[in-house]
Amino acid sequence: MTLVAPDPELQQILDLARDLALRAGSLQADRYETELTIETKSASIDLVTEVDEACEALIVEGIRAGRPDDAILAEEGQGDGDGDGDEGAGVRWIIDPLDGTTNFAHGFPRFCVSIGVERHGVREVGVVYDPLLDERYEAVRGAGAWLGARRLRVTHEADLGRALIATGFAYDVHRSEDDNLARFVHIVKHARGIRRDGSAALDLCCVAAGRLDGYWEIKLKPWDVSAGLLLVEEAGGRTSDLAGRPAPRSGEEILVSNGPLHETLRRHLADAPALSADATDASGALTPRPA
Ligand code: IPD
Ligand code: CA
Ligand code: CA
Repeated sequence: MTLVAPDPELQQILDLARDLALRAGSLQADRYETELTIETKSASIDLVTEVDEACEALIVEGIRAGRPDDAILAEEGQGDGDGDGDEGAGVRWIIDPLDGTTNFAHGFPRFCVSIGVERHGVREVGVVYDPLLDERYEAVRGAGAWLGARRLRVTHEADLGRALIATGFAYDVHRSEDDNLARFVHIVKHARGIRRDGSAALDLCCVAAGRLDGYWEIKLKPWDVSAGLLLVEEAGGRTSDLAGRPAPRSGEEILVSNGPLHETLRRHLADAPALSADATDASGALTPRPA
């Protein structure tokens, strides 16, 4: 069995997205653990390498050659402006050329290419490629989520105490009070386990593949979530913001789960008690408990 798109245009888009993701992934694998030029963006911990740029150039050029009329929103800015024009018109590609840049820059083997495609403002195609594991995640609306030739299904776990959950932290974590730490601490105390793997797109794919039961994050961007949200939905999972409303395409607030766990996880995140002010002070470690 394999993924077949429901119409010829989506099949063409899927084939192109797959080809470009595989080529960008192969570039990442070739440059993994080689010497890199690393620069910073919004903060000292927000990195970009020449491999992010090269992957984006490869993908953007491929789309312009194959589908010149489509709009492109790409993280490193090689697409069409901010891509926030007429979101309802035509086909729009949303690209994270290398998700997991911090991992890539440190030689930590967890990163991927993520390509999402919307048609008339609706997520229709998602391709995420992990080049080190050679794992290709693909989804087309109505045609399921796939890992290679295997159709994906989320888990059935409804008990947070038996669930493996993932999250992440935004690049403003050193200076922002809205830092996700209180939620993280609370879930550590209630879930079976928690992971911070450093690739939002792969975290979403892991929920789709039943490797994780749930995942949340704040302050993400459209390119982090476009492909992965469709994968979760097509694998039978649930997607929302932290209040349970539809997941915003901006990525500002994302909660995904297998479904049965969703409300429990959402309530735990909403009820996470605030940490003491100096617990999250950038200058110090977590405040010790009073004796
Ligand atoms: C980041 C990763 C990370 C998440 C960050 C993202 P990047 O994307 O997905 O897991 O926690 O919020 O910005 O910068 O590696 O493409
Ligand atoms: Ca990203
Ligand atoms: Ca990126």
